[in-house]
Amino acid sequence: MKRIFSGMQPTSQLHLGNYLGALKNWVSLQDEPDSECLYCVMDLHAVTAEYDSARLSDATREIAAAYIAAGIDPNKSSVFVQSAIPEHSQLMWLLATMAQMGKLERMTQFKDKAGKNQERAGLGLFAYPVLMAADILIYKASHVPVGEDQKQHLELARDLAATFNTRYGVDFFPQPQPVITGPAPRVMSLRDGSQKMSKSADSDMTRINLTDDADLIAKKIKKAKTDADPLPETLGELKGRPEALNLITLYAALAEISKQEALTLFIGKQFGQFKPAFADLAVEKLSPITMRMNELMDDPAQIDVILAKGTEKARSIAAPILSDVQKIMGFHR
Ligand code: TRP
Repeated sequence: MKRIFSGMQPTSQLHLGNYLGALKNWVSLQDEPDSECLYCVMDLHAVTAEYDSARLSDATREIAAAYIAAGIDPNKSSVFVQSAIPEHSQLMWLLATMAQMGKLERMTQFKDKAGKNQERAGLGLFAYPVLMAADILIYKASHVPVGEDQKQHLELARDLAATFNTRYGVDFFPQPQPVITGPAPRVMSLRDGSQKMSKSADSDMTRINLTDDADLIAKKIKKAKTDADPLPETLGELKGRPEALNLITLYAALAEISKQEALTLFIGKQFGQFKPAFADLAVEKLSPITMRMNELMDDPAQIDVILAKGTEKARSIAAPILSDVQKIMGFHR
Protein backbone atom coordinates (compact mmCIF):
# COMPACT_ATOMS: atom_id res chain seq x y z
CA MET A 1 0.00 0.00 0.00
CA LYS A 2 1.39 3.35 -1.04
CA ARG A 3 0.74 6.45 0.99
CA ILE A 4 1.42 9.60 -0.97
CA PHE A 5 1.92 12.96 0.73
CA SER A 6 2.61 16.36 -0.77
CA GLY A 7 1.78 20.01 -0.30
CA MET A 8 2.30 23.59 -1.37
CA GLN A 9 2.65 26.75 0.61
CA PRO A 10 -0.08 29.40 0.49
CA THR A 11 2.42 32.10 -0.38
CA SER A 12 1.23 33.63 -3.61
CA GLN A 13 -0.48 32.98 -6.89
CA LEU A 14 -0.21 29.58 -8.51
CA HIS A 15 0.98 29.51 -12.11
CA LEU A 16 1.30 27.17 -15.03
CA GLY A 17 4.58 25.78 -13.64
CA ASN A 18 2.85 24.68 -10.43
CA TYR A 19 0.11 23.04 -12.47
CA LEU A 20 2.27 21.17 -14.99
CA GLY A 21 5.11 20.46 -12.56
CA ALA A 22 3.07 19.35 -9.54
CA LEU A 23 -0.72 19.41 -9.49
CA LYS A 24 -1.19 17.51 -12.74
CA ASN A 25 1.00 14.71 -11.37
CA TRP A 26 -0.80 14.66 -8.04
CA VAL A 27 -4.06 14.17 -9.90
CA SER A 28 -2.75 11.17 -11.80
CA LEU A 29 -1.31 9.61 -8.61
CA GLN A 30 -4.74 9.46 -6.98
CA ASP A 31 -5.88 6.90 -9.55
CA GLU A 32 -3.06 4.45 -8.94
CA PRO A 33 -4.22 1.19 -7.40
CA ASP A 34 -3.50 0.56 -3.70
CA SER A 35 -2.59 4.12 -3.00
CA GLU A 36 -3.88 6.72 -0.63
CA CYS A 37 -3.17 10.39 -1.26
CA LEU A 38 -2.86 13.21 1.25
CA TYR A 39 -2.60 16.72 -0.17
CA CYS A 40 -1.94 19.39 2.39
CA VAL A 41 -1.77 23.20 2.35
CA MET A 42 1.47 24.06 4.15
CA ASP A 43 0.51 27.18 6.08
CA LEU A 44 2.97 26.61 8.96
CA HIS A 45 5.78 26.73 6.42
CA ALA A 46 4.37 29.91 4.87
CA VAL A 47 4.88 31.86 8.09
CA THR A 48 8.63 31.20 8.14
CA ALA A 49 8.96 34.05 5.63
CA GLU A 50 7.42 37.50 5.67
CA TYR A 51 3.70 37.15 4.93
CA ASP A 52 0.44 39.05 5.16
CA SER A 53 -1.56 37.77 8.14
CA ALA A 54 -4.72 39.43 6.79
CA ARG A 55 -4.45 37.30 3.61
CA LEU A 56 -3.23 33.99 5.00
CA SER A 57 -6.64 32.44 5.52
CA ASP A 58 -7.87 33.34 2.02
CA ALA A 59 -4.58 32.29 0.47
CA THR A 60 -4.94 28.94 2.23
CA ARG A 61 -8.45 28.43 0.82
CA GLU A 62 -7.19 29.47 -2.61
CA ILE A 63 -4.57 26.73 -2.64
CA ALA A 64 -7.15 24.17 -1.55
CA ALA A 65 -9.44 25.45 -4.33
CA ALA A 66 -6.61 25.09 -6.84
CA TYR A 67 -5.98 21.48 -5.79
CA ILE A 68 -9.62 20.63 -6.30
CA ALA A 69 -10.02 22.67 -9.48
CA ALA A 70 -6.98 20.94 -10.97
CA GLY A 71 -8.71 17.60 -10.49
CA ILE A 72 -7.93 16.37 -7.00
CA ASP A 73 -11.07 14.57 -5.99
CA PRO A 74 -11.91 15.01 -2.30
CA ASN A 75 -13.66 11.64 -2.42
CA LYS A 76 -10.42 9.92 -3.39
CA SER A 77 -7.77 12.08 -1.71
CA SER A 78 -7.65 13.97 1.56
CA VAL A 79 -7.23 17.72 1.25
CA PHE A 80 -6.47 19.58 4.47
CA VAL A 81 -4.51 22.38 6.11
CA GLN A 82 -1.25 21.70 7.97
CA SER A 83 -2.02 23.93 10.97
CA ALA A 84 -5.28 22.05 11.61
CA ILE A 85 -3.31 18.90 12.45
CA PRO A 86 -1.37 19.61 15.67
CA GLU A 87 0.50 16.31 15.30
CA HIS A 88 2.74 17.88 12.61
CA SER A 89 4.15 20.37 15.11
CA GLN A 90 4.26 17.85 17.92
CA LEU A 91 6.29 15.36 15.91
CA MET A 92 8.49 18.18 14.67
CA TRP A 93 9.68 18.92 18.20
CA LEU A 94 10.55 15.29 18.78
CA LEU A 95 12.44 15.07 15.48
CA ALA A 96 14.19 18.36 16.28
CA THR A 97 15.98 16.58 19.10
CA MET A 98 17.52 14.29 16.48
CA ALA A 99 18.28 16.83 13.75
CA GLN A 100 21.88 17.98 13.56
CA MET A 101 22.54 21.71 13.31
CA GLY A 102 25.38 21.04 10.87
CA LYS A 103 23.07 19.29 8.45
CA LEU A 104 20.48 22.05 8.67
CA GLU A 105 23.17 24.63 8.02
CA ARG A 106 24.00 22.91 4.77
CA MET A 107 20.45 23.16 3.40
CA THR A 108 20.69 25.20 0.23
CA GLN A 109 17.18 26.62 0.60
CA PHE A 110 18.04 27.93 4.06
CA LYS A 111 21.18 29.55 2.73
CA ASP A 112 19.23 31.12 -0.16
CA LYS A 113 16.39 32.37 1.99
CA ALA A 114 18.47 33.53 4.94
CA GLY A 115 20.83 35.41 2.66
CA LYS A 116 23.91 37.07 4.08
CA ASN A 117 22.63 37.54 7.57
CA GLN A 118 22.11 34.00 8.90
CA GLU A 119 22.39 35.23 12.49
CA ARG A 120 19.14 37.12 12.03
CA ALA A 121 17.24 34.27 10.36
CA GLY A 122 14.38 32.93 12.45
CA LEU A 123 14.57 29.55 14.14
CA GLY A 124 11.48 28.56 12.13
CA LEU A 125 13.27 29.12 8.83
CA PHE A 126 16.24 27.11 10.09
CA ALA A 127 13.98 24.28 11.29
CA TYR A 128 11.82 24.36 8.13
CA PRO A 129 13.17 21.02 6.86
CA VAL A 130 12.49 19.36 10.24
CA LEU A 131 8.85 20.42 10.04
CA MET A 132 8.77 19.09 6.49
CA ALA A 133 10.13 15.76 7.71
CA ALA A 134 7.41 15.70 10.36
CA ASP A 135 4.75 16.43 7.69
CA ILE A 136 5.80 13.31 5.87
CA LEU A 137 6.64 10.97 8.76
CA ILE A 138 3.53 11.74 10.81
CA TYR A 139 1.64 9.75 8.13
CA LYS A 140 4.44 7.25 7.49
CA ALA A 141 4.15 8.40 3.88
CA SER A 142 5.90 6.10 1.45
CA HIS A 143 5.96 8.40 -1.58
CA VAL A 144 6.44 12.15 -1.81
CA PRO A 145 6.05 13.93 -5.13
CA VAL A 146 8.37 16.95 -5.03
CA GLY A 147 10.31 19.17 -7.38
CA GLU A 148 14.09 19.08 -7.73
CA ASP A 149 14.46 21.97 -5.29
CA GLN A 150 12.93 19.92 -2.45
CA LYS A 151 15.06 16.79 -2.87
CA GLN A 152 17.60 17.85 -0.25
CA HIS A 153 14.79 18.34 2.28
CA LEU A 154 13.44 14.90 1.49
CA GLU A 155 16.92 13.46 2.04
CA LEU A 156 16.80 14.96 5.53
CA ALA A 157 13.41 13.35 6.17
CA ARG A 158 14.86 9.99 5.17
CA ASP A 159 17.84 10.63 7.41
CA LEU A 160 15.64 11.51 10.41
CA ALA A 161 13.49 8.43 9.86
CA ALA A 162 16.61 6.26 9.97
CA THR A 163 18.07 8.10 12.97
CA PHE A 164 14.87 7.57 14.93
CA ASN A 165 14.77 3.88 14.07
CA THR A 166 18.41 3.38 15.04
CA ARG A 167 18.32 5.44 18.21
CA TYR A 168 15.27 3.64 19.59
CA GLY A 169 16.09 0.25 18.11
CA VAL A 170 12.84 0.01 16.16
CA ASP A 171 11.72 -0.47 12.61
CA PHE A 172 9.07 2.20 12.82
CA PHE A 173 9.40 4.87 10.14
CA PRO A 174 9.62 3.74 6.51
CA GLN A 175 11.97 5.59 4.17
CA PRO A 176 9.88 8.04 2.16
CA GLN A 177 10.70 7.90 -1.57
CA PRO A 178 10.76 11.01 -3.72
CA VAL A 179 8.50 10.73 -6.74
CA ILE A 180 9.77 12.72 -9.65
CA THR A 181 6.85 12.08 -11.94
CA GLY A 182 7.68 12.49 -15.54
CA PRO A 183 7.61 14.06 -17.88
CA ALA A 184 7.84 16.98 -15.45
CA PRO A 185 8.54 19.80 -17.86
CA ARG A 186 10.81 22.62 -16.88
CA VAL A 187 8.52 25.59 -17.20
CA MET A 188 10.46 28.75 -18.00
CA SER A 189 9.53 32.43 -17.97
CA LEU A 190 7.63 33.75 -21.00
CA ARG A 191 10.08 36.66 -21.17
CA ASP A 192 13.39 34.87 -20.66
CA GLY A 193 13.83 31.23 -21.62
CA SER A 194 16.75 30.84 -19.21
CA GLN A 195 14.75 31.74 -16.05
CA LYS A 196 12.24 29.51 -14.29
CA MET A 197 8.61 30.64 -14.37
CA SER A 198 8.22 31.97 -10.85
CA LYS A 199 5.58 33.47 -8.64
CA SER A 200 8.06 35.98 -7.31
CA ALA A 201 9.30 37.32 -10.67
CA ASP A 202 8.68 41.05 -10.92
CA SER A 203 6.58 41.12 -14.04
CA ASP A 204 3.28 39.28 -14.19
CA MET A 205 3.84 38.98 -17.96
CA THR A 206 6.51 36.33 -17.31
CA ARG A 207 3.98 33.75 -16.12
CA ILE A 208 0.51 32.38 -16.68
CA ASN A 209 -1.39 32.31 -13.39
CA LEU A 210 -4.13 29.81 -12.71
CA THR A 211 -6.43 32.76 -12.05
CA ASP A 212 -5.77 34.53 -15.39
CA ASP A 213 -8.79 34.80 -17.69
CA ALA A 214 -8.76 33.77 -21.35
CA ASP A 215 -7.98 37.28 -22.64
CA LEU A 216 -5.05 37.72 -20.32
CA ILE A 217 -3.61 34.29 -21.19
CA ALA A 218 -3.87 35.11 -24.90
CA LYS A 219 -2.25 38.51 -24.34
CA LYS A 220 0.65 37.05 -22.36
CA ILE A 221 1.30 34.43 -25.02
CA LYS A 222 1.11 37.01 -27.79
CA LYS A 223 3.73 39.11 -25.97
CA ALA A 224 5.94 36.16 -25.05
CA LYS A 225 9.53 36.55 -26.18
CA THR A 226 10.46 34.54 -29.29
CA ASP A 227 12.87 34.86 -32.17
CA ALA A 228 12.54 35.56 -35.88
CA ASP A 229 13.21 32.06 -37.21
CA PRO A 230 10.54 29.57 -38.21
CA LEU A 231 10.07 26.37 -36.21
CA PRO A 232 12.50 23.65 -37.31
CA GLU A 233 11.93 19.98 -38.01
CA THR A 234 13.79 18.48 -35.07
CA LEU A 235 14.21 19.25 -31.36
CA GLY A 236 18.00 19.35 -31.77
CA GLU A 237 17.61 22.41 -33.97
CA LEU A 238 15.99 24.31 -31.08
CA LYS A 239 19.35 24.41 -29.33
CA GLY A 240 20.30 27.98 -28.52
CA ARG A 241 16.65 29.04 -28.82
CA PRO A 242 15.48 28.74 -25.18
CA GLU A 243 12.26 30.73 -25.65
CA ALA A 244 11.20 28.62 -28.63
CA LEU A 245 12.02 25.44 -26.75
CA ASN A 246 10.00 26.62 -23.74
CA LEU A 247 6.91 27.33 -25.82
CA ILE A 248 7.13 23.95 -27.56
CA THR A 249 7.64 22.25 -24.18
CA LEU A 250 4.56 23.95 -22.76
CA TYR A 251 2.49 23.15 -25.84
CA ALA A 252 3.49 19.49 -25.62
CA ALA A 253 2.77 19.27 -21.87
CA LEU A 254 -0.67 20.85 -22.25
CA ALA A 255 -1.55 18.73 -25.29
CA GLU A 256 -0.10 15.64 -23.60
CA ILE A 257 2.08 14.79 -26.59
CA SER A 258 5.86 14.59 -26.94
CA LYS A 259 7.90 17.69 -27.74
CA GLN A 260 8.84 16.22 -31.12
CA GLU A 261 5.18 15.61 -31.91
CA ALA A 262 4.39 19.20 -30.96
CA LEU A 263 7.20 20.48 -33.16
CA THR A 264 6.08 18.34 -36.07
CA LEU A 265 2.69 20.07 -35.98
CA PHE A 266 4.38 23.41 -36.68
CA ILE A 267 7.37 22.65 -38.93
CA GLY A 268 8.35 25.70 -40.93
CA LYS A 269 5.73 27.91 -39.28
CA GLN A 270 6.50 31.29 -37.78
CA PHE A 271 5.63 32.18 -34.20
CA GLY A 272 2.88 34.39 -35.59
CA GLN A 273 1.09 31.17 -36.52
CA PHE A 274 2.18 29.08 -33.55
CA LYS A 275 1.19 31.55 -30.84
CA PRO A 276 -2.57 31.73 -31.56
CA ALA A 277 -2.73 27.93 -31.65
CA PHE A 278 -0.83 27.75 -28.36
CA ALA A 279 -3.07 30.40 -26.79
CA ASP A 280 -6.19 28.45 -27.82
CA LEU A 281 -4.79 25.28 -26.31
CA ALA A 282 -3.75 26.99 -23.07
CA VAL A 283 -7.17 28.56 -22.69
CA GLU A 284 -8.91 25.27 -23.48
CA LYS A 285 -6.90 23.44 -20.80
CA LEU A 286 -6.73 26.14 -18.15
CA SER A 287 -10.10 27.87 -18.33
CA PRO A 288 -12.05 24.96 -16.78
CA ILE A 289 -9.58 25.05 -13.87
CA THR A 290 -9.85 28.81 -13.48
CA MET A 291 -13.63 28.63 -13.63
CA ARG A 292 -13.84 25.90 -11.04
CA MET A 293 -11.40 27.76 -8.80
CA ASN A 294 -13.49 30.92 -9.00
CA GLU A 295 -16.67 28.98 -8.26
CA LEU A 296 -15.08 27.46 -5.19
CA MET A 297 -13.70 30.80 -4.02
CA ASP A 298 -17.20 32.26 -4.31
CA ASP A 299 -18.43 29.57 -1.96
CA PRO A 300 -15.78 29.28 0.77
CA ALA A 301 -18.11 27.15 2.89
CA GLN A 302 -17.87 24.42 0.26
CA ILE A 303 -14.07 24.46 0.53
CA ASP A 304 -14.27 24.38 4.30
CA VAL A 305 -16.49 21.28 4.23
CA ILE A 306 -13.90 19.50 2.08
CA LEU A 307 -11.09 20.61 4.39
CA ALA A 308 -12.98 19.47 7.48
CA LYS A 309 -13.40 16.02 6.00
CA GLY A 310 -9.73 15.90 5.02
CA THR A 311 -8.71 17.03 8.51
CA GLU A 312 -10.70 14.27 10.11
CA LYS A 313 -9.10 11.64 7.88
CA ALA A 314 -5.58 13.04 8.33
CA ARG A 315 -5.90 13.17 12.12
CA SER A 316 -7.17 9.62 12.21
CA ILE A 317 -3.85 8.56 10.65
CA ALA A 318 -1.55 11.00 12.47
CA ALA A 319 -2.82 10.65 16.05
CA PRO A 320 -2.02 6.94 16.53
CA ILE A 321 1.40 7.39 14.87
CA LEU A 322 2.27 10.25 17.25
CA SER A 323 1.07 8.18 20.18
CA ASP A 324 3.31 5.27 19.10
CA VAL A 325 6.28 7.63 18.78
CA GLN A 326 5.65 8.95 22.30
CA LYS A 327 5.52 5.41 23.65
CA ILE A 328 8.70 4.41 21.84
CA MET A 329 10.47 7.48 23.23
CA GLY A 330 9.40 6.54 26.72
CA PHE A 331 7.06 9.38 27.63
CA HIS A 332 4.78 8.92 30.63
CA ARG A 333 1.24 8.29 29.42
N1 TRP B 1 8.70 22.79 1.10
C1 TRP B 1 7.72 22.46 0.10
C2 TRP B 1 7.77 23.50 -1.01
O1 TRP B 1 8.05 24.65 -0.75
C3 TRP B 1 6.33 22.39 0.68
C4 TRP B 1 6.24 21.30 1.67
C5 TRP B 1 6.20 21.43 3.03
C6 TRP B 1 6.19 19.91 1.38
N2 TRP B 1 6.10 20.20 3.62
C7 TRP B 1 6.09 19.25 2.65
C8 TRP B 1 6.22 19.16 0.20
C9 TRP B 1 6.06 17.87 2.74
C10 TRP B 1 6.18 17.78 0.30
C11 TRP B 1 6.10 17.14 1.57
O2 TRP B 1 7.49 23.16 -2.14
